[in-house]
Amino acid sequence: MMKNVAVIGFGNVGAGVIELLWQGRVAGLALKKVVVKHPEKPRPFELPPAMLTTEISKVISAPDIQVIVELVGDAKVAAEVVLTALKNGKDVVTANKLIIAEKGDSIFTTAAKLGRFVGFRGTFVGCHSLIHELNEARLSASRIKRISAILNGTSNYILSTMTKEAKSFDEALSEAQRQGYAEQDPSQDIDGIDTAYKLRILLGLINDTRRPPGNFPIEGIGGITLQDIRYADELGYRIKLVGVIEQPEKAAFVRVHPVLIPPDSLLGSVEGNNNAIEIEDELGVTSGWVAPGAGRYPTSVAIIKDLVDIAQERKPLFPQGDALIPLGDIGELQNRYYLRFSVVDQSGVLAQICNVFWQYNASLATVMQKEGRSRDFVPVVMTTYPVKERDLWQSLTEINQLEIIKAPTQVIRIYER
Ligand code: HSE
Repeated sequence: MMKNVAVIGFGNVGAGVIELLWQGRVAGLALKKVVVKHPEKPRPFELPPAMLTTEISKVISAPDIQVIVELVGDAKVAAEVVLTALKNGKDVVTANKLIIAEKGDSIFTTAAKLGRFVGFRGTFVGCHSLIHELNEARLSASRIKRISAILNGTSNYILSTMTKEAKSFDEALSEAQRQGYAEQDPSQDIDGIDTAYKLRILLGLINDTRRPPGNFPIEGIGGITLQDIRYADELGYRIKLVGVIEQPEKAAFVRVHPVLIPPDSLLGSVEGNNNAIEIEDELGVTSGWVAPGAGRYPTSVAIIKDLVDIAQERKPLFPQGDALIPLGDIGELQNRYYLRFSVVDQSGVLAQICNVFWQYNASLATVMQKEGRSRDFVPVVMTTYPVKERDLWQSLTEINQLEIIKAPTQVIRIYER
């Protein structure tokens, strides 16, 4: 039986989904309505005028519509649309990461109770093709032990454009916005929030829980300068924003932060708006995936795959369980670090810094001092051998109180898997 679809939202991604549906690319589904805020606004292609409407509530309760694609943008409205549409007996597809990451429990529980479908591949575009792998991890002979991933196309675009074209952070961000990669509020991309939502969704999938923890450490790329990109390059690294889940036993060590990473590693080699994911199982088998993580068609294709599942009446792939996963303390983890100090240019400076590191048993792998451009301080870049995260931060608290330190110290973890 043919099912009728309504798409709510005709923005960058909406335009792609509407175009593909209108071309009849999903057998068994017909585009019936498109809900827009401004019907008079010019669109990239024409639809029959009667197809456009502004009335969300009418559409999500219409008896002749069986499937709702929610691309509203505003999280409050999106959650309302998704839950109401489910209660009205519709199958639903959403690309809203925030609502799946934060309200996934009530959305999936409602859908399961009512026997409805919720598709959410569009919430983690770059790795959506792995949804079966992630969803069925619990059934597999070897459980997933580690995920390291680049999950935000905008941040990756910014960092790789700064690296390759020596563009400033702001120039690279404007370009990412022009390309339609960035969120309406790009601080979600830059501050690591978007990555954290996606990581939380993956955490729920690999552990088959609708209630994955969300209060893990999150750092973004707002503080990364061209100077750091150049020093990293000199040291033989790229800078990338990564999300990491490590599950050695019961607890999960989860975090989002920038890293220095070798350019010939899978994640280190990923450029532009691409996302990448590296998965290691408990037997040490590692596999990877690279795909575009943002933009009209990459996101539309992810959404269309959910719609194909609905058309073919496949089972939804959302988590079924509700186990609580304890979070491990990342202060216990060992990392190598890149440190950029801003110090006065005088004798004894390195000795003072090294003296503190010595007390914390933190051993240095590289030390390089650059000639300063500022009269007030010179940059000194150091890398460490592995040191416990808690010890590193305690030693930095002491170092940052020294008279010789003239600006906040830049700290970036080095990731060498
Ligand atoms: N703003 C997101 C990104 C869009 O840049 O990855 C895709 O989720």
